[in-house]
Amino acid sequence: MLTFRRALVAAAFVLTILFLTTRSSSPAVPAVADTFPKAQAFADSSRQASTTAAGQRIDDNARHGANPSRKRPGKKGQQALQDMSKLSLYDKLAYQFPYDVETKFPAYIWQTWKWTPAHSEFDFREQEATWTEQHPGFVHEVITDTVSVHLLRLLYASVPEVLEAYEALPLPVLKADFFRYLILLARGGIYSDIDTYAIRSALEWIPESVPRDAVGLVIGIEADPDRPDWKDWYSRRIQFCQWTIQSKPGHPVLREIVTRITDQTLKRKRAGSLRDVNNKGVIEFTGPALWTDIIFEYFNDDRYFDMSASPGPIDYRNFTGMEVAKRVGDVVVLPITSFSPGVQQMGAKDYDDPMAFVKHDFEGTWKPESERHIGENN
Ligand SMILES: *[C@@H]1O[C@H](CO)[C@@H](O)[C@H](O)[C@H]1NC(C)=O
Repeated sequence: MLTFRRALVAAAFVLTILFLTTRSSSPAVPAVADTFPKAQAFADSSRQASTTAAGQRIDDNARHGANPSRKRPGKKGQQALQDMSKLSLYDKLAYQFPYDVETKFPAYIWQTWKWTPAHSEFDFREQEATWTEQHPGFVHEVITDTVSVHLLRLLYASVPEVLEAYEALPLPVLKADFFRYLILLARGGIYSDIDTYAIRSALEWIPESVPRDAVGLVIGIEADPDRPDWKDWYSRRIQFCQWTIQSKPGHPVLREIVTRITDQTLKRKRAGSLRDVNNKGVIEFTGPALWTDIIFEYFNDDRYFDMSASPGPIDYRNFTGMEVAKRVGDVVVLPITSFSPGVQQMGAKDYDDPMAFVKHDFEGTWKPESERHIGENN
């Protein structure tokens, strides 16, 4: 009983902070429905590589830009109440957590672990401290399992099927994966696994030449195995990582992955096959394989991108061997060095490289390395 009450108090505390911080920073009138990257931002410059003052470069894939036929809706003031029960889950989430690419990246850092930093068994003090040191002024929360349940109940009260799916997931690693997408969809900011060091402030992750109001998602590369037998070791030819993600609230990639995981989970719950999801299945069910697939689907989705003006579809070839950040529409993809420095393979450079932003230890991810990839990689 005591732990439950403490969890409630902690949840109330987190929510109060959330309430106070979102109050002061969000506009009085919420943006209406779906908003997309402005066509203008991408239409008038062609593909280029530019160098910033900080020396950080970006490969700006401007022509694969936002779909101009889907103009950003104007801010029309109050939104009429909709009968949510008739909407698909995807549309419900869009209604509940609207995406506006022009808002700022929220100053939150979200992490999860079995214990809070105040607990005697919390082993990640050093890692956790780097995030606070590099991000003064950010709200930094390490959320325990008990608190995450309460937090999600409040954030997703109007979308009960999401809560049902979260509660039904049979393994802690599945919940940990799902939680990062849920918190970023609802609140935005940075999610990072607890065993990750911040090497550089997130304020420096995106090259200065990229307007902050044209980007809504920042991701890194986990694996780029340029070898003929890559299938023996990795599930995808390019795998995006999900141990560190930065996003604005409501990003369509997060909306899609939450929809997909919820639908799959509830389908399997009804069919009685949810218990069959074992550690090996995690990578496809909630992990980096699903994350990677959904990002590639987004890049080729004509609801968001003007495919007719694009030089061609996007697949792994557009990201393999990258050494500078690359922007595709409202997504910035960082090179492998940024979130996976020091792995001494696949072209990743060392921790002291200027493009090395976080260091991930694979200790606090609930899953050994062998479960993240198909097998051990030598
Ligand atoms: C992606 O790469 C492929 C093959 O290398 C190329 O044909 C295509 O035009 C590229 N797509 C974009 C949008 O740059």
